[in-house]
Amino acid sequence: MQAVSTIAELRALLSKARAIAFVPTMGNLHEGHLNLMRLARENVAREHGGCVVASIFVNPLQFGPNEDFDRYPRTLEADCAKLQGSVDVLFTPPVNEMYPAQQTVFVEPPPIANELCGAARPGHFRGMATVVLKLLNIVQPQVALFGKKDYQQLHIIRQMVAQLNLPVGIVGGETVRAADGLALSSRNQYLSEADRSEAIFLYKILQGMQLAILQGERDVERLQQQAVETLIARGWSVDYVAVRNRSDLLPASQSQRDLVILAAARLGNTRLLDNIEVCLVD
Ligand code: PAF
Repeated sequence: MQAVSTIAELRALLSKARAIAFVPTMGNLHEGHLNLMRLARENVAREHGGCVVASIFVNPLQFGPNEDFDRYPRTLEADCAKLQGSVDVLFTPPVNEMYPAQQTVFVEPPPIANELCGAARPGHFRGMATVVLKLLNIVQPQVALFGKKDYQQLHIIRQMVAQLNLPVGIVGGETVRAADGLALSSRNQYLSEADRSEAIFLYKILQGMQLAILQGERDVERLQQQAVETLIARGWSVDYVAVRNRSDLLPASQSQRDLVILAAARLGNTRLLDNIEVCLVD
């Protein structure tokens, strides 16, 4: 694996690659990221001149003023060790390489970016989409991979790629979970021991809602309300629990068969995110 931190070095290294698969990350890598690296390799075989590129960049543009940008875990040495063997090129630009001047041009994400996670994190998806577009232009991959745990992020990236005609295929990787079901996330390490055992309850709630819908429950408002009340009673502070159409992430319509239940809630200062897909069959 070769690690570079400037765009010029990266371009020189990639000039001979016949196909590039790209996994953008903010580092503090876990099995969810490594799963995306493996998926990337499946897309571009080394023997055919294929190259797997990963980036680690904690993007200031997608953090709000009171969010965890400064304390976001930066673990470059451990990350490099984890990537050895699975990635060909690692791009780790410093902030002034990505933003040499103040960024005044942004991607304006679709209106759905103001709902769900966007409601509690104004500007987050605008900053995320802007850096993803920059990274795609810098790396110029044929395929880019993102985790389904950040379901709304993946949806917005797909919309950006489709509507701006970007020449890249987007692949979503399944959420990787701890043995007890908790979705892996770099933010899990903020959890105290007691909160870590409670954290699993978020996925349990989603599984319960999925089962209820599969068993015929159609009053999703009631399901959402019950889930929120249960979480609050257990000490969570809830941003949202929402049953949405998978295609557009708008509130579930009766005619839609492919749904997704999304949730974001906090334990102490730690904000956890999860989702589960529901497919209705007659
Ligand atoms: O999901 C992430 O880690 C980030 O939002 C991404 C896609 C790397 C953009 O900064």
